[in-house]
Amino acid sequence: MERFQAFVVDQTEQGFRAGIRELTLADLPKGDVTIRVRYSSVNYKDGIVATPNSRLVQSYPMVPGIDLAGEVIHSDDARFREGDEVIVTSYRLGTGHFGGFSQVACVPADWVVPMPKGLTMRESMILGTAGFTAALSLHRMEENGLAPDKGPVLVTGATGGVGSTAVSMFSQLGYQVTASSRKSEEHAFLRELGAAEIVHPETLVLPADQPFPDLPERWAGAVDPVAGKSLPYIVNTMRYGGVITVSGFTGGPDFATTVFPFMRRAITFIGIDSVECPMAIRRPLWERIGAELKPTAALEQIVHEVSLETLPDVLSAILQGKVKGRTIVKL
Ligand SMILES: NC(=O)c1ccc[n+]([C@@H]2O[C@H](COP(=O)([O-])OP(=O)(O)OC[C@H]3O[C@@H](n4cnc5c(N)ncnc54)[C@H](OP(=O)(O)O)[C@@H]3O)[C@@H](O)[C@H]2O)c1
Repeated sequence: MERFQAFVVDQTEQGFRAGIRELTLADLPKGDVTIRVRYSSVNYKDGIVATPNSRLVQSYPMVPGIDLAGEVIHSDDARFREGDEVIVTSYRLGTGHFGGFSQVACVPADWVVPMPKGLTMRESMILGTAGFTAALSLHRMEENGLAPDKGPVLVTGATGGVGSTAVSMFSQLGYQVTASSRKSEEHAFLRELGAAEIVHPETLVLPADQPFPDLPERWAGAVDPVAGKSLPYIVNTMRYGGVITVSGFTGGPDFATTVFPFMRRAITFIGIDSVECPMAIRRPLWERIGAELKPTAALEQIVHEVSLETLPDVLSAILQGKVKGRTIVKL
């Protein structure tokens, strides 16, 4: 039986172990579609999965990797045939079901998305869950009235995965993007991605002496994968009718403000979930990512490529907020 390599995390009575193991098809969880994985990518969630006693891992051993792209080598489902190029992201991939840090994966057919015409397997993983989350944010904001002529869009955590792909996609569609980043050395990078203005998150904090501030209107939209101390400020500086999408909490999960700005400025506040996003939205959105949302010029600027051997360094760096852009794993 074919042997292949995978990055496996395991928690036993002897402690936590993470490293490359040789697996066979018999080691994989059951699924309708078997895929030769060509690329995966590293997301913040993968960093959490690769830490001891991770709250995200449903059972050990686990192969992390919430994203994968590859070719079908076997399918028991009529929707997919040998040789098809596919993307699998989200659901329980890499948390409750062996994921993308493996040269072969076996997954339920309901999780599989055909590769959009405009994307290669490599490009699809440069974007991956982070890019999909940026696109889903854009889609939900447009549904709620956002358009380029409404005013500037703030993107937080701008050098990160969701942030850098959001800066690229929004600016490509003609939005005026303000990028918020702690990394002052990356201003040139952010401008190349299309940011018109760059701010430091320390400037996006409510004045301590004003419990009910009435601050000037700044943003028509805000894409926020960071939350933390900036989010109350963002809510209080939205333009009338503005739209906020919250997708992450690298800056912390707590959120304290009043209900006043939501009512006074008619703000729409949207939670973004890429994990259970229905296929009826997921598939057309991937098609759009392969077409008008594809940030062609930015892809090679944001990508960094690693192998299974060099993956552990990135998994720890991403939890420290030190990763810039997107890291793909070549299998
Ligand atoms: N809801 C969903 O479906 C969904 C999907 C994907 C990701 N997420 C979540 O979104 C967040 C970002 O994911 P990602 O893959 O983009 O991660 P990432 O690549 O690590 O980017 C996160 C960025 O946040 C900023 N940051 C990190 N730590 C911070 C801190 N302590 N205070 C303020 N800013 C900080 C950094 O940007 P700067 O250095 O430029 O400031 C960092 O690059 C995570 O919480 C992740 O779990 C959610």
